[in-house]
Amino acid sequence: MTTRRLINVGRLPPALEARLAQSYALTTLANEPDPAAYLAAHGAGFDALVTSAAIGVDAATIAALPTLKVISNFGVGLDKVDVAFAQGRGIAVGYTPDVLNDCVADIAFGLLIDAARSLSAADRFVRRGEWPKGAFPLARKVSGAKLGLVGLGRIGRTIAQRAGGFEMPVRYHARRPVEGVAWAHEPSLLELARWADFLVIITAGGPATRHLINAEVLDALGPDGFLVNVARGSVIDEAALVQALADKRIAGAGLDVFENEPNVPAALIALDNVVLVPHIASATRETRQAMADRVYDNLQSFFAEGRLVSAAPSA
Ligand code: NAP
Ligand code: 8YV
Repeated sequence: MTTRRLINVGRLPPALEARLAQSYALTTLANEPDPAAYLAAHGAGFDALVTSAAIGVDAATIAALPTLKVISNFGVGLDKVDVAFAQGRGIAVGYTPDVLNDCVADIAFGLLIDAARSLSAADRFVRRGEWPKGAFPLARKVSGAKLGLVGLGRIGRTIAQRAGGFEMPVRYHARRPVEGVAWAHEPSLLELARWADFLVIITAGGPATRHLINAEVLDALGPDGFLVNVARGSVIDEAALVQALADKRIAGAGLDVFENEPNVPAALIALDNVVLVPHIASATRETRQAMADRVYDNLQSFFAEGRLVSAAPSA
């Protein structure tokens, strides 16, 4: 049997690359001195493509691979994968839903509690030697506070379940109400922001949600409200957020994702009322292993049985 040809255009954990190289003839595009020239000269003949959510794959790259049959994405976010173009050419697209719900929900709560109770700021206060000079300012109680979720998909539901343990009333905004859940659907994002003490963003990224969270939404959240983003940086108008934090028009924020990763604006870094972490929501050994396994299993299942374990919905 001929070995299938696989091209890696993303950034994958080394152990996954090694495992893929045992089953496929693997080419890592980043190792080529001139990736564009390589694709133009050698694009024909690849059966499969792997990428990561942060890098994705655009239409031009897919078009340069005329024999491609399947794409396997390391991550659940497909905002950088041109799914419509791939599916339009009959290429199957696989991703890694569900296996990361717990870890992303955990980080959402970690950021929420840190922002509200000023954990990182209090840590800096102790390290600066300021404790002997006076008490740290009082913070915002989390238990029992109102949680607004923007997005109630797989991860949003997991966050909502966590909120039960903190006795937090939950409402959510999405384009459609979700069947069979007890949490109230709020059709107006502005109304949700007005109601919430904490607004957690966990929608899909991409053009449909770009700058969904703008100055108007931030003002609706108000000076006692906190914002948490574990979705995509593109969902928030980052310049408007910096201004709202600097003016104290919202109380604080916790951010895992940014508009121009890995670059975080200096204006955000200068603020003490925002917690900044480098896109680590799924970054535990256990979850990254489960994601790697799904990337591998998607390919294996596609070639053995003609179907993916986790197929992206039709775009
Ligand atoms: P999912 O199950 O597809 O849920 C997406 C949610 O977003 C749904 O509730 C959807 O509801 C809502 N939504 C989509 N477009 C919307 C719009 N224009 N306005 C309002 N709501 C909208 O996805 P998931 O598995 O929960 O993952 C969600 C996202 O989290 C991923 O797409 C990814 O970008 C991000 N993520 C980030 C990390 C990280 O490391 N920080 C890790 C994993 C995932 P409707 O379609 O009904 O509107
Ligand atoms: C990872 C993510 O950071 O799954 C996603 O959409 O954003 C995260 O799990 C990403 O997959 C790593 O490329």
